Amino acid sequence: MSDTDLLARVLTQARTQNAWLDKPVPDALLREIWDTAKWGPTSVNSNPARIVFVRTPAEKDKLIAALNPGNVAKTRAAPVTAILGYDLEFWRKLDKLFAHKPEMARNYASNPVAAESTAFRNGSLQGAYFMIAARAHGIDVGAMSGFDHAKIDAAFFAGTSVRSNFLCNLGYGDPAGLFPRQPRLDFEEACRLA
Ligand SMILES: Cc1cc2nc3c(=O)[nH]c(=O)nc-3n(C[C@H](O)[C@H](O)[C@H](O)COP(=O)(O)O)c2cc1C
Repeated sequence: MSDTDLLARVLTQARTQNAWLDKPVPDALLREIWDTAKWGPTSVNSNPARIVFVRTPAEKDKLIAALNPGNVAKTRAAPVTAILGYDLEFWRKLDKLFAHKPEMARNYASNPVAAESTAFRNGSLQGAYFMIAARAHGIDVGAMSGFDHAKIDAAFFAGTSVRSNFLCNLGYGDPAGLFPRQPRLDFEEACRLA
């Protein structure tokens, strides 16, 4: 695949999918996507993202109960829905992830405000790496923030320090469900050279 084809696959021609073909995504592919996405950079190598891959009908029902109405049909049709969460206590794993500076874990443990912003910022970055990695592996994505966070947290992260960030349907998109593509900001509108 040329560089241009790869860029088309992951960004320039890739679309947010709203309808899904009846074609399963093997668990092994979900592992491959994570094993690619995990290499994206995070501050203090914090790796705060935590992902639940919802595949079974019973778990899907729990997920769907928390969705805004406009997100229900597409989520029901998607073979997999990833819950992208972030761990407020990511610092518990810094002894593995940032072993050369043990004081960093202590700093975050004693500063929950810094821990929260670090977890959310880097967990969101990892969510973006995750979507790009999924597309690179040939899997379409459809991200969603239209849901009740408290309900998702109670159903999937009860008793943990993980909080939901956004959801992402995964599978093979049906082009019939695409919305018209909206424009993006041009360089002059979004950037400046300083
Ligand atoms: C974090 C995030 C949350 C989103 N939430 C929703 C949502 O709740 N419902 C929905 O229909 N689309 C949602 N979208 C889809 C966006 O509207 C869509 O990605 C954007 O319009 C670009 O579409 P395109 O990728 O087809 O160009 C979300 C996208 C992202 C990245």
